[in-house]
Amino acid sequence: MAPLAVVLAIIMGVFAAAALWVEADIRDQDIAERTAAVEKLFLQKLDKDTNLMIATMRTMMTNPSIERAFHQLDRPTLARQLGPLFASLRDKHHITHLYFTGPDLINLYRFHSPDEFGDEIDRLTTIKARDNQDAVHGLELGALGTLTLRLVMPWRSDSRVIGYLEIGEEIEHLISEISEGLAVDMLVLVDKRLVSLQQWQRGQALMKREGNWERFASQVTLAQTTDRLPAALDDLTLQRLLAGRTAEIDDRGRSLHLAAVPLRDAGQRHIGDLVVIRDITTLKSTFNWSIVAVTTISLLSAIGVLGVFYLALDRVERDYRRQHDLEHQLLRYNAEYGRILQLEKLSALGTMVGSIAHQLNNPLVGVVNLAQLAERGVDDPVRTRELLGEIRSAGEDCRTFVKRMLAFSKVSCFESKPTPMAALIEDTVLLFRQTENKQLPVELELPDEPVVLTIDPILLRHALFNLLVNAAQATTDGGAIVISLAREDDAARNVPGWSLAVRDHGRGMPPEVLEKIFVPFYTTHSDGTGLGLPVVQHVALLHDGQVNVSSEPGRGTRIAIWLPDSLPSSLPNTPPSSLHDSPDHKHDAA
Ligand SMILES: Nc1ncnc2c1ncn2[C@@H]1O[C@H](COP(=O)(O)OP(=O)(O)OP(=O)(O)O)[C@@H](O)[C@H]1O
Ligand SMILES: [Mg+2]
Repeated sequence: MAPLAVVLAIIMGVFAAAALWVEADIRDQDIAERTAAVEKLFLQKLDKDTNLMIATMRTMMTNPSIERAFHQLDRPTLARQLGPLFASLRDKHHITHLYFTGPDLINLYRFHSPDEFGDEIDRLTTIKARDNQDAVHGLELGALGTLTLRLVMPWRSDSRVIGYLEIGEEIEHLISEISEGLAVDMLVLVDKRLVSLQQWQRGQALMKREGNWERFASQVTLAQTTDRLPAALDDLTLQRLLAGRTAEIDDRGRSLHLAAVPLRDAGQRHIGDLVVIRDITTLKSTFNWSIVAVTTISLLSAIGVLGVFYLALDRVERDYRRQHDLEHQLLRYNAEYGRILQLEKLSALGTMVGSIAHQLNNPLVGVVNLAQLAERGVDDPVRTRELLGEIRSAGEDCRTFVKRMLAFSKVSCFESKPTPMAALIEDTVLLFRQTENKQLPVELELPDEPVVLTIDPILLRHALFNLLVNAAQATTDGGAIVISLAREDDAARNVPGWSLAVRDHGRGMPPEVLEKIFVPFYTTHSDGTGLGLPVVQHVALLHDGQVNVSSEPGRGTRIAIWLPDSLPSSLPNTPPSSLHDSPDHKHDAA
């Protein structure tokens, strides 16, 4: 489990890191896009306002009376003609400056400050317009610390420049619009070296602002969209921001993202920076929540997967243990079974030896006693002959017993061949009639069609004969013995076969006898060997069959030998021959 836990921890760690990296990337991209949008919008607005100024100028330049007044340096006419237009431009379009300047750059008329005139205009835009003899526009830092978008255009009349027209607007309203549109705060900073303190203070007073000249070491704020600058935005932070273009600060529980956009004047000089301040508190808390969520999900997933693995492994281990225990138990049972089998064999051998000894001992004791009597009465030839006769009879008993034993041992010689069953049964009944003295009726219940089974005819006749003898011995009041042959399948093994049964109406067997009838030497007859039914069972087993017994005390017994249709290939078979071709073994039957 430990290596698995380590691997899982690594996988989950990598997953969480990847998820957070993606999340951080999305956040940074969002911030970068917003900053880029601010810059783009600022430039777009400058362009738009420049276009408005161009259109306004062109309208003025096409007016002959204005041109005439300009040409004739007629200030009152200019004021009269354009005063209302300037007022409207100032009110509606934030235009703050309108100049008429002569070809020598001496100012003729300032609409925003009509009393100031006659001075030389030395601003970059005007000088460039004169030098290039073309329209020039761009941002310009004013003397009073104002940042103005200016457009200067030479005024041509009869291919001669009669002067320059200049329109300007302070950009404060632009940053206010952007701030509102994109929900950011903005700050216009310029290099202190480009503005003098006195002029700046004059400008602040004019615009009724309370700027702080000392707040930053090298920059001063010209315009801002928020009343309160973040306290954390100190000089050090500003320098860091200007060096790296972005920074992040905390201000009274808010997370602020700062980005600096460089500001260039009409001469492409870097004069300051536009600082964009964005409140990213929500974005950051969402990101922090994402970290918590991703970490929690990763942890829970890892715990879940580990749990599932643990359960699965535990189950496999338990199954393995159970199987191992079962195998162990099986081995033990096998050993035990082998031992019991050995014991049973020994005990069966002991029983058999005891029975044989007992069977032989009785006549032998008789022989010894009779011989002693004969020795003592040797003078009496009649008595001696009588005793010798009894000795012979006891000897014959022994021989009969030994003969039966030999017959039993012969059962293991198995030789099968296709045998017509009807002939075999009739043959056995004939033999039975010759030996049996009660002359009991024997009835046959055979199928109509001839049945030929591959069997050992000698062994089967022997078995059937034993069943007939047993039936006769059990029949006391002369009921008939019935031999039947009928089709019967072995349901358990699903094998088709035949049942050869002997049924009597004799005394039947109580359960305690029934359970021992296949034990060799078990007999309830004084002159029986107890080998009859063991032989029957042995013969059935040799044919891959079995013996089925049903008996009811006082009503009779049915003992059937079940035989399969065909012998399994492992059992020996011989070529077909008729029953009568086989050697006669009638004397083998008990
Ligand atoms: N048809 C039957 N009816 C009642 N009891 C039977 C029947 N067949 C067998 N038995 C009982 O089963 C015992 C065992 O039979 P088995 O044929 O093995 O030996 P046996 O007949 O006693 O001796 P043997 O066959 O050697 O003369 C018999 O002693 C008898 O008690
Ligand atoms: Mg018998």
